[in-house]
Amino acid sequence: MFVVERLAAREILDSRGRPTVYAECYLEGGVSGSASVPSGASTGAAEAVELRDGDPRRYRGMGCRKAVGSILGELNDGLLGHAFDSQATFDMRLIALDASPAKSRLGANAILAVSLAFARAAAAANNEEFWQYFARMAGFAPSSLPRLTINLFSGGKHAGQQVAIQDVLIVPASSRSVDESLVMSCEIYQVAAEISLRRFGMRLLRADEGGMAPPFRSAEEMIETAIEAIETAGYCAGQDVALAIDVASSHFCSQQGYQLGDRLLTSRGMIDRLKTWVDSYPLVSIEDGLAEDDWENWPLLLSAIGSKALILGDDLLCTNEARINRAIKTSACNALLLKVNQVGTLTEGCRALQLARSAGWQVTVSVRSGETEDNWAADLAVGWAGDQFKNGSVTQSERLAKYNRLLAIEASTNLPTNVWPGNQIAEPVRS
Ligand code: PGA
Ligand code: ZN
Repeated sequence: MFVVERLAAREILDSRGRPTVYAECYLEGGVSGSASVPSGASTGAAEAVELRDGDPRRYRGMGCRKAVGSILGELNDGLLGHAFDSQATFDMRLIALDASPAKSRLGANAILAVSLAFARAAAAANNEEFWQYFARMAGFAPSSLPRLTINLFSGGKHAGQQVAIQDVLIVPASSRSVDESLVMSCEIYQVAAEISLRRFGMRLLRADEGGMAPPFRSAEEMIETAIEAIETAGYCAGQDVALAIDVASSHFCSQQGYQLGDRLLTSRGMIDRLKTWVDSYPLVSIEDGLAEDDWENWPLLLSAIGSKALILGDDLLCTNEARINRAIKTSACNALLLKVNQVGTLTEGCRALQLARSAGWQVTVSVRSGETEDNWAADLAVGWAGDQFKNGSVTQSERLAKYNRLLAIEASTNLPTNVWPGNQIAEPVRS
């Protein structure tokens, strides 16, 4: 039993220089845990609600004093002295205290910060590593570490919309460890930076998740430049290193259709374009290829490309059980992008994970574009046996905090890196 003694909280800043929430949870017996929550920019409409102050005179309305107030006030009062036997009973109490459908009353940012801080405190009380706590919670014994998907180039909402699609990511596929994946990714990143400088006269400026954002003329140029960087770095594209894209298409879709560069496409047109890309490029994962409310066309996308690439739902699913259920029933996708702050408690995130697993889906555990130096997402990705981990690029300390934590977990567990599913990546030729 874990008895809550008190909560503490404060407003801190995230990697975009916007306020976010930090919380501490003190348990009887002298242990405590703390956690910071991230924040998205390319958010799905069905996400749990981040509580922001809305006061234009402070942080342009983005302040989190109300969310901090939720923790110090109602959540502290409603938890203090209560005993909990599990994360699930704790999170159910958080949900009951808020009692609003999308956690808008106390704020999903406040609620997740407390859910995570309790988890860290409970893990400390159990004397276990945080990833072990997550593994026990999910009922898994991880046999591998997630494969990295690393942001190389950005567009869309993460980079001022110079290209419609949001991210081109590299997937170190032939690597056998996190360490080796990072070696490959950092080499390719440096080469990509040199190409950007040569071709676009572009100094190394980074988008929100650390990807580079030169003024590509099209999504194709963005993808082809990634392939060029892989090959120039000495790797074989499609064997050593594959590609993933986050199309984030909700953000360029309107009543009129999908505005992909200078072309206005129908849903069918969008699917055809994605199919052409999958046929022409070593693309193994397509995230949000269609918009979050284009439910009727997602099954067509899955049947057109699903055997060749993961059809990954981010804005479509919002880590939300009801939406995942709908996607399973309608065969809308075959992979979940899991972000716990889309739903607001660890327990609900875990239920989303179990549901996706029960359908045989792959799961990519993901951080957000506005991150902090907290590294819990690495433990979560390992403990919940994420097939992939999406953590932005290989620069900036809020990203490196997670990679460096993964390296520590790798060193202490010696677990191998997960193998990409199916036969989407050709077996590398090893010398
Ligand atoms: P975010 O989006 O800006 O909402 O964190 C990242 C993503 O779309 O995967
Ligand atoms: Zn996304």
